[in-house]
Amino acid sequence: MTATTPVQRSTHLTPDEVDEVLALAQAAGDTDGAYPLSEHVVLHVRHGGDRPAIHLYVREAGRLVGYAHVDTTDVIEGASAELVVHPMFRRHGLGRALVVAATDAAAQHDPLAAQPGGAATSQRSSARLRLWAHGDHPSASALALSLGFRRARVLWQMRRSLYAPLPAPELPVGVTLRGFRPGEDDEGWVALNARAFADLPDQGRWTLRDLRVRMAEPWFDPGGFILAERDGALMGFHWTKVHGNASHDHAPIGEVYVLGIDPAAHGLGLGRALSLAGLRYLRGRGLDQAMLYVDEANVRAVALYQNLGFARWSTDVLFQRG
Ligand SMILES: CC(C)(COP(=O)(O)OP(=O)(O)OC[C@H]1O[C@@H](n2cnc3c(N)ncnc32)[C@H](O)[C@@H]1OP(=O)(O)O)[C@@H](O)C(=O)NCCC(=O)NCCS
Repeated sequence: MTATTPVQRSTHLTPDEVDEVLALAQAAGDTDGAYPLSEHVVLHVRHGGDRPAIHLYVREAGRLVGYAHVDTTDVIEGASAELVVHPMFRRHGLGRALVVAATDAAAQHDPLAAQPGGAATSQRSSARLRLWAHGDHPSASALALSLGFRRARVLWQMRRSLYAPLPAPELPVGVTLRGFRPGEDDEGWVALNARAFADLPDQGRWTLRDLRVRMAEPWFDPGGFILAERDGALMGFHWTKVHGNASHDHAPIGEVYVLGIDPAAHGLGLGRALSLAGLRYLRGRGLDQAMLYVDEANVRAVALYQNLGFARWSTDVLFQRG
């Protein structure tokens, strides 16, 4: 079936196509127990980005049954893709066809893959690409490993009850906490985030636009975006987020969305203090549970969160080839 599976490609989705992609992702999420697209990709699908992504899709009798989002903007790490096949259309070769098409699309945009006269399809089909699989499902591993990818990075989702004790934060001398002030704190926060995540470029290179796209989201709440400062200088932040409303089918849950501390302020207990302040804020909003994502390899952060009572809930895997 793969040889005859037509994978269509575009750099733009119509509003109807956006709805179809989100409905497909929801159907897969309901079946698999893990939503197949990251927040970054959902925002891109809904609002577009600085540079167009490549959308790949497969239709059966007019109905969208497979979708891949290919982001070719990172010329250093190479393109990354997320894909999903409708649960009723699996094991028909659609996942494989989407990965092959994503690889071809990535190779065409990859300066490191450029070859005089153009790369042959057979060469492109084994070119470098990163694939995110949410939920660490055996089918995703089987597909990725069968196409020559390796497990490169593992992200944990951790959770904690907000009914368990949440002691008051103990702040270093002179440090105060306050909510983010939209407009006033934007530039200062982008700089702080870059310092805090110098070693984690996915997060550290967020721009003003990345910030403002999120500020325009319905869930954005400056009160839950807590900044730590001393003598007017920003030292760290805890950006919380509430997931789930009428359009979700689960009870609302709070998230430690991003926690970042300026390296110059490490070792003062700010990470713990800001975490507690944010979790108390979420509990104050009537939520009973909190979640977060952390890289399995980020042992200091994992230790902090375990210490705060978080335990692993699910796993996302980055598969890499090339
Ligand atoms: C992973 C996913 C995209 C696979 O889609 P699919 O259309 O069923 O995959 P294919 O039919 O093209 O399978 C290609 C190969 O992957 C492997 N594979 C896929 N699903 C498998 C499963 N459930 N068990 C064992 N092997 C599996 C097999 O080697 C298969 O080849 P074969 O059928 O000739 O044995 C689909 O299950 C899905 O949408 N999952 C949720 C989203 C996700 O995890 N995305 C990340 C993908 S890296």
